Amino acid sequence: MTTVLITGAAGFIGYHLSKRWLDQGHTVIGVDSFSDYYDPSLKRDRVTMLTANPAFHLVEDKIETPGTLDAIFKTHKPSHVMHLAAQAGVRHSIEAPRDYVDANLIGTYELLEAARATPPQHMLLASTSSAYGANTKMPYAETDKTDAQMSFYAATKKATEAMAHSYAHLYDLPVTMFRFFTVYGPWGRPDMAYYKFTKAILADQVIDIYNHGRMKRDFTHIDDLVEAVRRLSETPPQTGHPAGDFDSLSPVAPFRIVNIGKSQPDELGVLIAEIEQSLGKTAVKNMMDMQPGDVPATWSDTRLLEALTGFKASVGLDQGIPAFVEWYKKYVDA
Ligand SMILES: NC(=O)c1ccc[n+]([C@@H]2O[C@H](COP(=O)([O-])OP(=O)(O)OC[C@H]3O[C@@H](n4cnc5c(N)ncnc54)[C@H](O)[C@@H]3O)[C@@H](O)[C@H]2O)c1
Repeated sequence: MTTVLITGAAGFIGYHLSKRWLDQGHTVIGVDSFSDYYDPSLKRDRVTMLTANPAFHLVEDKIETPGTLDAIFKTHKPSHVMHLAAQAGVRHSIEAPRDYVDANLIGTYELLEAARATPPQHMLLASTSSAYGANTKMPYAETDKTDAQMSFYAATKKATEAMAHSYAHLYDLPVTMFRFFTVYGPWGRPDMAYYKFTKAILADQVIDIYNHGRMKRDFTHIDDLVEAVRRLSETPPQTGHPAGDFDSLSPVAPFRIVNIGKSQPDELGVLIAEIEQSLGKTAVKNMMDMQPGDVPATWSDTRLLEALTGFKASVGLDQGIPAFVEWYKKYVDA
């Protein structure tokens, strides 16, 4: 049994990871500020389920509050740290960039400083496929150059990769950074397209479709993500031991970046058709131009994930969307 610190435990991914670690008999320290970026009542509902387990301990605070994370590390001495707390969202980063400085840059700095003082066995930090920015070579591989972020959100996430690398190097802290690809599923995020489409179609409202529907995303189901993270948590990077020539392992630090995706992009139209079929209703569509900061396609190269863990994501939209829609209907009716 281990003690795991999960930042952003009230969030979509943090909730699912917390649940998985609790189900396996571990102690989970969850930190979350319950930010109002989207309806905090969804976050409260997720946490209510977690607190039913006495092995879950909640700290309600901003991660960038000086001393908060340091005190948690000193008290609980977590063996593993999963850092999900962040200000997410491409569009919001154009409207409110300071939120990203505070949560993503200063928050991650506080986490790294706390880890320096009380080193865990393995730190696992969330980055994003948006780090690939303007890259056009597909699929996106972890060893590709990523120097052209398209949004401030992506820029702050890319910065956290560099910050974590320097701490991994200076203080010999094993760090795995995840680049997640459009994660979806039950208890998901209301600001994401699949959630907004489901809600709007049910309410007979028009749905806005960006880039006239010519968008492709490597939609990744939350169950696949949780299994990938579980396996990677047991595989801390070791300097000098790359898994192959496609490994992003640093030459000077126990640090690597791993894509977590399905490696099979779907067009937005396929997503919408799955939602329509699950709801038994047709969407009224409003075709729009591309949003500033957005990219037309994402596609993960997952050779590294497979080499490290033997795991390959397998949940398709035809399976994942009906399950999401079923959860959504139950949740809004409750
Ligand atoms: N969902 C995706 O498709 C996706 C894709 C790429 C990367 N990510 C990354 O994965 C992580 C989790 O994303 P998610 O989809 O679960 O988002 P989420 O918004 O549901 O979860 C983030 C949680 O962090 C909390 N939080 C925000 N700022 C905080 C702060 N300053 N201090 C403490 N808590 C704070 C929020 O209240 C929220 O509960 C994020 O780092 C995000 O950037 C997600």
